[in-house]
Amino acid sequence: MARSLVLSLTLAFLFIGMVSARDWNILNQFKGLKPTKTTTSQKGVTTLKDPNLTGYCESWRINVELHNIRDFTVVPQECVWFVQKYMTSSQYEDDVERAVDEAIIYLGKTCCEKKKCDGMDAWIFDIDDTLLSTIPYHKSNGCFGGEQLNTTKFEEWQSWGKAPAVPNMVKLFHEIRERGFKIFLVSSRKEYLRSATVENLIEAGYHGWSNLLLRGEEEEKKSVTQYKADVRTWLTSLGYKVWGVMGAQWNSFAGCPVPKRTFKLPNSIYYIA
Ligand SMILES: *[C@@H]1O[C@H](CO)[C@@H](O)[C@H](O)[C@H]1NC(C)=O
Ligand SMILES: *[C@@H]1O[C@H](CO)[C@@H](O)[C@H](O)[C@H]1NC(C)=O
Repeated sequence: MARSLVLSLTLAFLFIGMVSARDWNILNQFKGLKPTKTTTSQKGVTTLKDPNLTGYCESWRINVELHNIRDFTVVPQECVWFVQKYMTSSQYEDDVERAVDEAIIYLGKTCCEKKKCDGMDAWIFDIDDTLLSTIPYHKSNGCFGGEQLNTTKFEEWQSWGKAPAVPNMVKLFHEIRERGFKIFLVSSRKEYLRSATVENLIEAGYHGWSNLLLRGEEEEKKSVTQYKADVRTWLTSLGYKVWGVMGAQWNSFAGCPVPKRTFKLPNSIYYIA
């Protein structure tokens, strides 16, 4: 008797738990709210900022991060406001910080410590949206992936060397460097942007990397994925152990040799294969 009372109480609590958990469903939160129409783009594109679009856009964004959605050329028009909101939010910064924390935990488990390092332990970083943020570019051009990236305009912006550091990345960079890893910066930026890139990196707080690899004419003929894989092959052939790769594009991790660990930073504004 007592036992069945306990059982039914437990079931009741479980049921209540389920109901209240369901109330946290993002769509249910907006029940009864009227959709609001807002114009977000400076280019005159009207986006319907329907509260229940939030769920759709969040699942689009997360599926980009999971690499289920690939090769998109533009962010779906109805989600541009959402991508802008996320990429400029404290949630984005929290997500980056989390990745940084996980990388530091991982570093603690690798055998590379200053005393034991043999100088052949390597770490690879992307540049754009990994060490340097392109958010100010998207802010001033007002499109946040809603239009295909204008390479001319984007490279002009990169050549000014004014990109700020991605939050928390300067800390991680030096943590890795001080542990005795050789840091390789592997970017799809073109070779002619080298001095602007170096100045920008130093200005943002980075120094002491071992090599900065940019794409010359030969590399521009390859896909970015192939180019980055070839750099890893080259490093491996020189005897380096690549402990980790951190980037904001999936092209940083694809192909062989497979890095021991990868750390993907959020970026749903553009996709480069
Ligand atoms: C979602 O939006 C559509 C169209 O605006 C509306 O008909 C529908 O009732 C909304 N659903 C919810 C759950 O708010
Ligand atoms: C890209 O930007 C440049 C420089 O602002 C401009 O001249 C050009 O027309 C743009 N290209 C496209 C395809 O919009």
